[in-house]
Parts: sequence; structure tokens; C-alpha cells
Amino acid sequence: LLISFGLILFAYLLGSIPTGYLVALVLKGIDIREYGSGSTGATNVLRTVGKGAALTVLLIDMLKGILAVASVKLFFIYGGGEILPIQWQDWLIAIASLLAVLGHSKSIWLKFSGGKSAAISLGILLTMNPFLGLGTLGVFVIVLSISKIVSLSSISAAIAVNILMWLLQPTAPYIVFAIIAASYVIIRHRSNIDRILSGKEPRIGQTA
Ligand code: G3P
Repeated sequence: LLISFGLILFAYLLGSIPTGYLVALVLKGIDIREYGSGSTGATNVLRTVGKGAALTVLLIDMLKGILAVASVKLFFIYGGGEILPIQWQDWLIAIASLLAVLGHSKSIWLKFSGGKSAAISLGILLTMNPFLGLGTLGVFVIVLSISKIVSLSSISAAIAVNILMWLLQPTAPYIVFAIIAASYVIIRHRSNIDRILSGKEPRIGQTA
């Protein structure tokens, strides 16, 4: 039980690493939460710092998700099944993933603020099941290329995750993860939803 708790705590701390905040602080000396959408995610880094910085943040945030799932998988591969019941694996992956998603947007280092958890969720999905991750990314890219609005693309991808999960990984832990994580990511975008509805959401290349 202690080990399960450790893996879940590790996932939360991993999610909590404030990549976007640190990159903006180091490169521009600013608190990114006071600029643009106030998010610490790659999209807001793109707006306030630049392309290279945004790509770095995107990749590191995805990596946090990859590591959160991979740490549980590796634990079971290297004999964890003898310590914890193997049936726990998928539930542990689902719970650790949820905590990583939560950690990214409610970081322990940023007084529980942060990003909107889209990039970290993509890393998680790719590691759970590559087809799931690529399908979700596909929806994101299609909506982005048409609308040029990142938040709308993230929201569409979050909705699509629920359908893709039923098709590709239809077991209880993953379905529960999909429903909670997708709802959470959508709720984190509520200010974007208001702006989209009033036509004020910036498109890619525009400033906030
Ligand atoms: O992943 C976050 C993105 O969907 C929106 O970010 O900064 O435009 O609120 P932002």
C-alpha cells in the first residue's frame, strides 16, 4: 500500500514541476501567470516568450506524463507484481495519471496554480496506448488547422478521448481516467470557453 502511495505521490510531484513558469522566469524574468491567459502551459509560453521556449515546455510537459505512466508500468515489469497484486496495475496507472494531471495545473510549487493539463495528458495517453495518444493528437491537429484556436483544439481532443478510450482501451480504470481527466481539462478551459463564445479567444499568432 505504501508503494502504491509512493507511485501516486511521485506522479503528483512530477506533474507539479512548473516547466512553463521556470522557462518564462529564466528566459524573460517574468511570472508567466501575470501574462496572456495566465496559464503556465506551452500555448501561453508561445504567446509570451517564443517558439523555441514553447516547444521545450510542450515536450517536457508531455515527458512528465510519459514518466508518470511509465514509472508504474516499469515497477510492475521489474517484479512489482510480487509486491503488489498485478490487478492493481491498471488502477494504479489511472490514479497516478489523474494525480499527474492534477499536479500540472495545481502545482505544489506555484501555490496550486499552473497550466491546463493538455500536454501532460497527451504524454499520458501516448504511454497508456500509442494509438490512443495518436488519435487524440490527430483530433487536436485537425481542429487546430481549421480553427487556429489552441484551446478549442484541446477541448475537442478531450471530448474525443472519451470515444477513443471506449474503442481502444475499454476497461474500467481507463474509462474512469478518461471521463475524469477529460472533464477536468475542459473545466480548466472555462475562461477560454467564455472567450470562444464571445469571439474574443486569440488565434495562434495573435497576442492575448
Ligand atoms: O493547453 C492549453 C491550451 O488549450 C490553451 O492555453 O494559454 O490559450 O489558455 P491558453
